[in-house]
Amino acid sequence: MKRFDLIAVASRLQTKVMGRPLVYAPRLTSTQDLAARLATRGWPEGAAVLAEEQTAGRGRQGRSWWAPPGGALLLSLLLRPTLPPSQARQLTIAAGLAAAESIEDVCAVPVELKWPNDLYIRGRKVGGILVESRLSPDGRALDHAIVGIGINVTVDFANQPALQAIATSLHVEASHPVEREVLLLTLLERWETRYEAALAGKPCHVEWASRLLWLGKQVLVVTPEGPLVGTAVGVSEEGALLIRRPNGEVEVIWAGEVFPVEREK
Ligand code: BTN
Repeated sequence: MKRFDLIAVASRLQTKVMGRPLVYAPRLTSTQDLAARLATRGWPEGAAVLAEEQTAGRGRQGRSWWAPPGGALLLSLLLRPTLPPSQARQLTIAAGLAAAESIEDVCAVPVELKWPNDLYIRGRKVGGILVESRLSPDGRALDHAIVGIGINVTVDFANQPALQAIATSLHVEASHPVEREVLLLTLLERWETRYEAALAGKPCHVEWASRLLWLGKQVLVVTPEGPLVGTAVGVSEEGALLIRRPNGEVEVIWAGEVFPVEREK
């Protein structure tokens, strides 16, 4: 396994805040866990945690997130956003855009997003984003948020029949080898720009929507309240998915998993 070259990253880091400091560990339960501990110990906004391997990596909706040692970019960023809790979804939107842009910068392949924040290349998932936030004691503000980003770089799904058809890795999709150090540096820069814009209240949901899979199509959404079928007609400025039901009503969806529905010919 080729370990992360931290000296190369430190010497080329151009950001003002993001990735400063950068904490590296060969193996963690989850980069989210260490970032959360740093948050409660008062570490500053921008602190980043990077690991080669996670023994209990996690995704959205209680799912686990797996990657072999050294095969993925596994990153968590500690933020102290001056956003009202009702705007926390802006972090998801900004992170999805920054991750998509950084992959495109490095690999020159188009990246799409599956609402709310899965990264897709040519119909297969290449990465995901998990935002975990904690409210201030009075519940009126965000104390901190941790944005976790996982991107498959050299993960080989060839011998994993269950994942082969649905997951991919940058080394398969790019026409040249991808260095995790370059991807990390690009991601931190893209993220800093997107995060500043989010804090400044600049809406980017239209740009986000332009990358979303299946807009205008018939979808099944499995929500915590149950499944529903309809046409994905757009997203709200706050990041909710808008589904038009067969009776014409538009449902506003905040959580769930989206699947395409094949129409009978
Ligand atoms: C998803 O696809 O549901 C989100 C996956 C997020 C995975 C990343 S890897 C770095 C960070 N640490 C974790 O345990 N999860 C996120």
